[in-house]
Amino acid sequence: MDPAAELEAVIEDMVQPGKGILAADESAPTIAKRFAAIDAESTQESRRSYRSLLFTTPGLAEFVSGVILFEETLAQSADDGTPLPVILANQGIVPGIKVDKGLAPLANAPGDKITRGLDGLAERLQHYKTLGARFAKWREVYPISDHNPTALGLEANAEMLARYAAVCQAEGLVPIVEPEVLIDGDHTIGRSAEVIEAVLRSVFHALYRHQVILEFIVLKPSMVTPGKDHPSPASPEQVAEATLKVFRRSVPAAVPGINFLSGGQTPEEATANLNAMNARYPDAPWELSFSFGRALQEPALKAWQGNPANAAATQQALYRRARLNGAARYGTWTTAMENE
Ligand code: 13P
Repeated sequence: MDPAAELEAVIEDMVQPGKGILAADESAPTIAKRFAAIDAESTQESRRSYRSLLFTTPGLAEFVSGVILFEETLAQSADDGTPLPVILANQGIVPGIKVDKGLAPLANAPGDKITRGLDGLAERLQHYKTLGARFAKWREVYPISDHNPTALGLEANAEMLARYAAVCQAEGLVPIVEPEVLIDGDHTIGRSAEVIEAVLRSVFHALYRHQVILEFIVLKPSMVTPGKDHPSPASPEQVAEATLKVFRRSVPAAVPGINFLSGGQTPEEATANLNAMNARYPDAPWELSFSFGRALQEPALKAWQGNPANAAATQQALYRRARLNGAARYGTWTTAMENE
């Protein structure tokens, strides 16, 4: 298949009305933390068992068009021996893979971070493709403080995202471009808007320099919210308004899908905020969707408790959260639906 046709086919499968992406790509230390919160041990087998449950949830494909996997999971199989990426693909869910190798401090930019993993990326992508991955994800992280992100941090992180995205497209994988602006801190929603606008402008400038085809990426950004320690929370309408104002200014209409991360919002908050965006801005130039990790998995993890006897409850909890976010994709979610 010619490379553009291949990328276009992946985008068509990933960006679908009423659907979003499940982020299940927690690194080994992160999933250990999530499991510790429910007193479950993190082993290769417990991770396989939990993620198999998620991916075999009946009806998941009604609301989920793609799943981001961690490298270990890409090579694991369900109880019946079917490889997990095949389990997903058989339901029409696109398997993808997190390819960054985590964070390091950015030298000479105190407080800023930079993500590792570009060396050998093309070869790794070729290997992941043979295992069934059709898209990739790379996350850069931007803390907010009085002096972060620095001008150097903005430039260096954007450059990494663009270099990664260009390599993905050359290998026929759709890049999810994730510039995560952290929710940590007591900053105002205005400060969040200012930082996210600067981040997005620098990222799209770098994508342009590296000739990344915007029609064949998915953007995975943070919503514009106040910091989590700010004394007054913003309403979903305020979040929707602030987010759309920033994104209209800084994200070209050529981008097919914006799939927000949840970044420490509660599952209900993340759904309400996404819903408000779609309810208020049905004519936005991009699909406004989700690529939630915690906001989709938290209730499922609580139901699971590391106990195979809770399999059905785990899947019901994931299905319910996916269904509510599916409604938020159309702006038809209501708080009453949370109590049903
Ligand atoms: P959260 O939705 O839990 O922030 O996770 C999304 C993700 O993939 C972060 O890289």
